[in-house]
Amino acid sequence: MIDDLKKEIDGVKQSFLKEIEQLQSPENLAALKERYLSRKKGIVSQYLSRLKEFAAADKPQAGQLINLLKAFIETTLVESGEKCGGSRGSAEKWNDYSLPASEIPLGHFHLIADIQRQIEDIFLNLGYEIASGPEIELEEYNFTALNMPEYHPARDEQDTFFLNGLESMILRTHTSPVQIRYMLEHQPPLKIIAPGKVFRKDDPDATHTPVFHQVEGLLVGRDINFSHLKGTLELFSRSFFGSEVNLRFRPSYFPFTEPSAEVDISCFMGCGQQSRKGDGGCMALQPDCRVCKGTGWLEILGSGMVHPQVLRNCRIDPEKYSGFAFGIGIERVAMIKYGVPDLRLLYENDLRLLSQFG
Ligand code: PHE
Repeated sequence: MIDDLKKEIDGVKQSFLKEIEQLQSPENLAALKERYLSRKKGIVSQYLSRLKEFAAADKPQAGQLINLLKAFIETTLVESGEKCGGSRGSAEKWNDYSLPASEIPLGHFHLIADIQRQIEDIFLNLGYEIASGPEIELEEYNFTALNMPEYHPARDEQDTFFLNGLESMILRTHTSPVQIRYMLEHQPPLKIIAPGKVFRKDDPDATHTPVFHQVEGLLVGRDINFSHLKGTLELFSRSFFGSEVNLRFRPSYFPFTEPSAEVDISCFMGCGQQSRKGDGGCMALQPDCRVCKGTGWLEILGSGMVHPQVLRNCRIDPEKYSGFAFGIGIERVAMIKYGVPDLRLLYENDLRLLSQFG
């Protein structure tokens, strides 16, 4: 008799569990509760009323089995009620709060902003401050104070956006005017970087956009010489591109630095790997390298010792102080480090491309 009851009760449990699994709404839950636990006609009550049929010796055990069934159904119903938000019996939407949350896609910096931050971090760690200046700049600061007086040919090389009706104001063609603004307001020692947008009337192509980004660097103090510049740029390049890269300084010309140098890094695709041991360039040239095009070197920035006239223009005595400056092209290093083949891709807002750099 007891064994039969056990089997029956197991069966009731199984079908109860099946039904609760298929529950769709709080209303169904209420109906299920009624069917199993209703005092008058509920399945559990029916079993209780059958208790009297059991022999006196079996009654306690039978009673216990039925009570366990009742407790099991009650707790399971409470749990399911919580899950479907239906304990209040409302017709609210079925929400299973125990499910893991769905993933919310997070945004991230644009590649250009991300690289700017990487560069800032390197120089902040070296004790540099971040300075900024306006994108609409005075010709005086963008050119004249940087040793490019009116009619200086270098002015024409940087195809400048002039502003209608705003005489002597332009969109800055480089971040170097921030040097001027900073030196006019501070006395040495100075140690700044100035990241920001710059503008040139270039026709857009794979390597040019009329708006692009630079990070300017300026350090002025006593007895600063070219080896300080070299050491700083070497440290920057190895932190940014990898400890294997080597640097090549090529003599160059900028009106605001003397001497001036353009800086190349050895190709990190393997072509330039032996350059540290060798005679400068690349001893393991790979002619079809997609990054350096077989040259072994990649140009990344312009630099030099601040021209004494520029210091004088900013009321700093070149007899007492000297300094170095450099300008890194952010788009340029984006192309090199991340293999961006065409800069225009970065400004088309195509998430398939942008989300690769998160
Ligand atoms: N301003 C220069 C350019 O835009 C780069 C540069 C900065 C060169 C500082 C030397 C020193 O090309």
